[in-house]
Amino acid sequence: TRDFMIAPSILSADFARLGEEVDDVLASGADIVHFDVMDNHYVPNLTIGPMVCEALRKHGVSAPIDVHLMVRPVDRLIGDFIDAGASIITFHPEATDHIDRSLQLIRDGGCQAGLVFNPATPLSYLDYVIDKLDMILLMSVNPGFAGQAFLPRTLDKLRETRQRIAASGRMIRLEVDGGVKADNLAEIAHAGADTFVAGSAIFKQRREDDPHRYDSVLRDF
Ligand code: DX5
Ligand code: ZN
Repeated sequence: TRDFMIAPSILSADFARLGEEVDDVLASGADIVHFDVMDNHYVPNLTIGPMVCEALRKHGVSAPIDVHLMVRPVDRLIGDFIDAGASIITFHPEATDHIDRSLQLIRDGGCQAGLVFNPATPLSYLDYVIDKLDMILLMSVNPGFAGQAFLPRTLDKLRETRQRIAASGRMIRLEVDGGVKADNLAEIAHAGADTFVAGSAIFKQRREDDPHRYDSVLRDF
């Protein structure tokens, strides 16, 4: 049996009270914080950067922060996020000129490293670097926005990725991101995922009458 992790994407949180939102979702049982970095260049949207990651650490967040870089270029931000308190840093292989070097920069900084695959990005990027990975993130939507529908072809890709992880003999987390909801979680887990990003399905369900605001929604997950 795998240990599953729920990774709420703060992209759908209320940014005007971000510290409180993160405290609430962790108190309700979330495992890690998914932190979406968009640069209006690699993806057509603009979000948050290292200063916000650092602010969450200063606020007292001690859970792992899972930084998903949707930026180009990649390398310059890696050091900034290491200094800002990131725990895991993932990037899209086609967004860097030197995949192996970018992975090594993350590992040298003491963070866990991962590659992210868009719906149409081939898994062959894994061929020569799987020994440097702690996480593989499969996008189940095209990156850039919260609230899109889960692409069902991701399920076959999850199965194939799970086989590659097993063949590698390494402990690599398999994360899925985009359109994950309580009602498709079981089939996604069955296809091989162990780490579940969910943005709108969690943060749009805030309930002031729950002890920690997200207890009832996370109970469904
Ligand atoms: C999309 C981001 C996701 C996004 C998911 O580019 O990487 O993490 O926040 O949002 P939902 O769960 O609403 O699809
Ligand atoms: Zn993400």
